[in-house]
Amino acid sequence: MLLDGFHALKHALRFGAEIPLALAQDRTAALALAAELAPDLAGRLDGMLRQVPPETLRELLPRPHPTGVAALAVRGSGHRAPVPGEQPGARTPRTAPLIVLDNPRHLGNIGAVIRLAAGCGAAGVLTTGTVDPWHPAVVRASAGLHFATAVERRLPAELPAGPTYALDPAGADLRTLTLPDEALLVFGSERSGLSPELRARADQLVALPMRPQVSSYNLATSVAMTLYHWMAQRPE
Ligand SMILES: C[S@@+](CC[C@H](N)C(=O)[O-])C[C@H]1O[C@@H](n2cnc3c(N)ncnc32)[C@H](O)[C@@H]1O
Repeated sequence: MLLDGFHALKHALRFGAEIPLALAQDRTAALALAAELAPDLAGRLDGMLRQVPPETLRELLPRPHPTGVAALAVRGSGHRAPVPGEQPGARTPRTAPLIVLDNPRHLGNIGAVIRLAAGCGAAGVLTTGTVDPWHPAVVRASAGLHFATAVERRLPAELPAGPTYALDPAGADLRTLTLPDEALLVFGSERSGLSPELRARADQLVALPMRPQVSSYNLATSVAMTLYHWMAQRPE
């Protein structure tokens, strides 16, 4: 799979991805970036980055990342665990919520949600619908943090068990609720909101407070508010 940009490569390396090829249009500049932003990886990047002319990078990628770095990673490598609570014979419950995106359409939103899940320590991100959550544009938007959490596409009927909290403006105010660690937090599609199938599965509809006349929040910012609420109720 393609890692587009320095940050995607940095996170993929930190979370154990196998990287068979890493290219830079300016090795010196890329290594200076590494010294500044990822000194923990400077030696490894020095050993792996191959310089190629900018035209070569443009031939490989329609719009190369401004950092002029691109790499290939082996999908499925790295420290990614299987979806928690589903390992064969697992008896331990999930210790952090799973995010479910119900038919998301915008690749940037999906990547931003994966980045949130990685940063907040959520159990993973499951998507329904037709979009591949490992699409290169999603990986670019997640800054390569796919390797730091579980990311899978599922049919709605294949979602794991667990108390299901579906986000919808008609629900109960999030501020009045405690989100359990084993919760599935379900968010609707940017275009049409929650599907009837996942709405029917919800144990609780949850609303994010909004001023009157505002119709809805952006999908990724909705996930951010909800995950922050979960984190704020946890010990540090
Ligand atoms: C951009 S919104 C969807 C708007 C869509 N036009 C609709 O009719 O619902 C994407 C998702 O973010 C979540 N969301 C956005 N604003 C919300 C709010 N105020 N309360 C609860 N969920 C919200 C919901 O899960 C929603 O389905």
